[in-house]
Amino acid sequence: MIENVSVIGLGKLGASMAAAFASRGLNVIGVDVNSRSVDLINEGKEPVQETDLGKYISENTDRIRATLSHEDAILNSDVSFVIVPTPSDENGSFSLQYAAWAYKEIGKALAKKDSYHNVVLTSTVLPGASRHGLLPILEKESGKKAGEDFGICYSPEFIALGSIIRDFLEPDFTLLGELDRKSGDQVEHIYSRVMLNDAPCKRMSLENAELTKISVNAFVTTKISFANMISELCEEIPGGNVDVVTSALGEDLRIGSRYLKGAIGYGGPCFPRDNVALGYLARVLEKKAPISETTDSYNREIPETIVDRIKPYTGSGKTLAVLGLAYKPMSHVVEESPGVALASALASAGNRVVAYDPLANESAAAELKANVVILDSMKQCLDQADIVLITTPDSEFKGISVADFKQNGAPVVVYDFWRLLSNEIKESDQVEYIGAGLAKKDEKITKRLEELWSMDGQEQ
Ligand SMILES: NC(=O)c1ccc[n+]([C@@H]2O[C@H](COP(=O)([O-])OP(=O)(O)OC[C@H]3O[C@@H](n4cnc5c(N)ncnc54)[C@H](O)[C@@H]3O)[C@@H](O)[C@H]2O)c1
Repeated sequence: MIENVSVIGLGKLGASMAAAFASRGLNVIGVDVNSRSVDLINEGKEPVQETDLGKYISENTDRIRATLSHEDAILNSDVSFVIVPTPSDENGSFSLQYAAWAYKEIGKALAKKDSYHNVVLTSTVLPGASRHGLLPILEKESGKKAGEDFGICYSPEFIALGSIIRDFLEPDFTLLGELDRKSGDQVEHIYSRVMLNDAPCKRMSLENAELTKISVNAFVTTKISFANMISELCEEIPGGNVDVVTSALGEDLRIGSRYLKGAIGYGGPCFPRDNVALGYLARVLEKKAPISETTDSYNREIPETIVDRIKPYTGSGKTLAVLGLAYKPMSHVVEESPGVALASALASAGNRVVAYDPLANESAAAELKANVVILDSMKQCLDQADIVLITTPDSEFKGISVADFKQNGAPVVVYDFWRLLSNEIKESDQVEYIGAGLAKKDEKITKRLEELWSMDGQEQ
């Protein structure tokens, strides 16, 4: 029975997995090239910010230690999970630069090991990367043979930042690409011991697993974009309401309700890049991936669409406030964030833009530089805003009342992408409320449908 595992790369995902393994009774050795991360884990502290990570590490210090030495980790464990960055390159592919370096170190350590060792890649990669990009590095550096002296698996996780440990321990399913049965059996055994639920383990070839991983994100983002497309149509239909439509759609079991909410598009470190990668893969394979490419381009066009929609209300002397800069609530991450993209697009269109996020102000300031004024509180934004755009369903924003808006006689325009605000605000004379996915208050939309169906002048 496997008792000792190592985790190579102690970032957001790796540190969380190491802590989760330890919490389920495995002895874990973590490796990172960053000595600060190693020191923090050895002091019983979390190296990155993630829900409950500090608690899981401090409660399991007897079963978790960290080192800078790949050799130490390989020689003192039986299975290694490799979770280093695989950043997108200029083509949209995932670079193996960090993984290749890690595999070189692992290979050198394998050369010194007498017993079988299993190397499991968790980082996101494209089909072929495990077998043709990384396996040869291990064989070359170790002088050993994959499938005989060591095993190879590809087993990515389906987690969201902010709930990594819970998602890891209670997945919908585990995905396991294997070079051969022996390496797959070992990892499935670890998962069945560690997972808190009876999630099915989907075992397959390395390449099928690599494709499955990016297909999941590509499909989920297609669903989000579909809801956003329906949302735009609802705005043009009298009485249109995207929540009414999507909540009914979600009842159909073939569709399902999760990630089916019209709002402002998706962002974050994972979702946007996987569609781009799928497009790249299709080009390399001389095939097409129009659904993924359209999902990506449609999502990227959203900020400009909003700039156009808001144009009738903007003008010189107006201040626009963007509330929500992280890619989702309760996060400090602004990578590919819709709020940052919108603030930037509004500022580029010549508007004065102020912005606020409960957790992401600092990281957003680095992205937005001097183009947008980031303020310390929601109140400071609302005090000066003529137009307010709410980009995340943050609980702080839900509590806004009419009295919080600037009081200068003219109604404040409020663009509420998640339809968070109260009826008091929606019905107030002091507010011109725009709910994304709700019918425009414009007679034209009724007229257009009337004209479409008018039988006047036609033979009955
Ligand atoms: N963060 C997510 O939400 C998420 C979700 C699914 C998949 N992933 C994938 O997981 C992988 C890691 O993501 P992350 O968010 O944890 O990255 P991260 O940048 O937070 O952490 C990566 C860690 O690896 C370390 N590292 C780099 N090279 C190393 C080496 N040779 N040896 C040991 N350590 C090394 C870095 O110092 C860093 O601490 C990526 O491929 C990513 O696409 C991430």
